[in-house]
Amino acid sequence: MSTATTEAKPAATEPNADRLTIETPQTGLVTPPAPSAAEARAGKEDTSLPPVPFLGLPTFQQDSNGAKEERTALTLREIRRDNRVRVYIAKGNEQMQAIGYTEHGHRHAGIVATIARSILTSLGHGERTAELAAIAGYLHDIGCVVNRRGHVEAGALISFSILSDLRMEPLEIAEIVGAVGNHEEPDGVPINPVAAAVIIADKSDVHYSRVQNTSPQDYDIHDRVNGSVKKSFLRVDPETKRIRLELEIDIGIASVMEYFEIFITRMALCRKAAAKLGCTYLVSINGHDV
Ligand SMILES: [Fe+2]
Ligand SMILES: [Fe+2]
Repeated sequence: MSTATTEAKPAATEPNADRLTIETPQTGLVTPPAPSAAEARAGKEDTSLPPVPFLGLPTFQQDSNGAKEERTALTLREIRRDNRVRVYIAKGNEQMQAIGYTEHGHRHAGIVATIARSILTSLGHGERTAELAAIAGYLHDIGCVVNRRGHVEAGALISFSILSDLRMEPLEIAEIVGAVGNHEEPDGVPINPVAAAVIIADKSDVHYSRVQNTSPQDYDIHDRVNGSVKKSFLRVDPETKRIRLELEIDIGIASVMEYFEIFITRMALCRKAAAKLGCTYLVSINGHDV
């Protein structure tokens, strides 16, 4: 049985408090790499850091003329450290904050990446496929640097540009941009396991620490619903083939009906994504399946 949980305090006051913890039979407890000291001091990702050396492992592939061409097996670690990725995700989240949207920055990216990888690992998919899901999960909202509207398509193209520049295998790029380009309803389709994992992971990150609006009197329904979720926990059971999002919500902040009002289409997409993985998708609120 695999579990992923987010349990956090608002990033504005405790920037490192919402470290995601993943527990799997294979890895035990794992937390993502800690932020730099500059990030910790600033309470947010530092986008001014210089790029770090590229650490990918070289591989070789024959091109159409039969010549060997050097390619690189990129991992999430290299992607997270790429300066373009750092800047675009941080600036994209600034746009989301400016228009009153919930957090779409490095916190969200890291959580989606970790949960997407965990879903596929738990269900027995290969290590490389799970790594591609982690990379796609990290990049899925990078298009917000252009505009919220169209961020799916923009994000796929930005990802394509960065990954091509880093000389990733075209087949792997295709998997990732397809997942980024299909992560939102109503047009998103879980075209493959990587896309399915990203969809479920993205919709699992509902939590009060995502609320960026500092004026509770101005909360919209998204703020209220996210603000009401004190704990979210994605349970993946490879034996029963059930994926269940377990939420603990404060019904004094948002009602269950409000939750459904904005999540009904997301749940429909998650059900399709789970089916792509051979699973059923369930949501429980305060201990009751809904
Ligand atoms: Fe998105
Ligand atoms: Fe997202």
